[in-house]
Amino acid sequence: MIIIKTMEEIEKMKKAGELLAGLHKEIAKLIRPGITTMEIDRFVEDYLDERGAIPEQKGYHGYPYATCASINDEICHGFPRDEKLKEGDILAIDMVVRLDGWLADSAWSYTVGEVSEEARKLLDVTRKSLYLGIEKAVPGNRLGDVGSAIQQYVESNGFSVVRDFVGHGIGRDMHEDPQVPHFGKPGRGVRLMEGMVFTIEPMVNAGEYGMKLDDNKWTARTIDGSLSAQYEHTIAITKDGPIILTDQGESRE
Ligand code: CO
Repeated sequence: MIIIKTMEEIEKMKKAGELLAGLHKEIAKLIRPGITTMEIDRFVEDYLDERGAIPEQKGYHGYPYATCASINDEICHGFPRDEKLKEGDILAIDMVVRLDGWLADSAWSYTVGEVSEEARKLLDVTRKSLYLGIEKAVPGNRLGDVGSAIQQYVESNGFSVVRDFVGHGIGRDMHEDPQVPHFGKPGRGVRLMEGMVFTIEPMVNAGEYGMKLDDNKWTARTIDGSLSAQYEHTIAITKDGPIILTDQGESRE
């Protein structure tokens, strides 16, 4: 069942989204060779605590940390760790924030120092694919329009879209209906209506789209060892089109 949100509820989610967007911008300033994802995780816990917000991922189905920090061939749900990031790494930081009972979810990919041309292109294509998907998120369109816009752009650039993880409705709960695939056919799937709030969060691999799960039963990594990137926004559908609740501002598109 898809839970439709009122404009007042969307405003509350936007407050959580603004907090999360600001946090991503602070993380961007911290990332450099030598820092660890465990240090970033601790920074996130403190940042949220100081602002009366809750790191929703911590304890969610037993997930142990505030952030997911997925490095290089890790697709998603990477555990923060004490190993230092090094020049040339890419990583995605994914977080869900609860503020005054309402949630926002956003992942962003980061580069550590200078990265390869392939890595740069992977990040650019993944980020662009998210915004192409968001453009299609208007009342009357279907989720297949969103997914196919993402898939076509990604594949035309020689990369692949992960199938095993999808976007999701969100509100008071992290995972609500509908599921939001980042692939599909135009004109198919759930019809979009005003008041829907969901994430779009394409994970894009430089190689094949297949994944394997680590022994920790959480971390997914590419089956062929290729790089993977992810960008995610929480969006609300209004009669005037999508609102990006986790928008970081123009310079970060
Ligand atoms: Co999400």
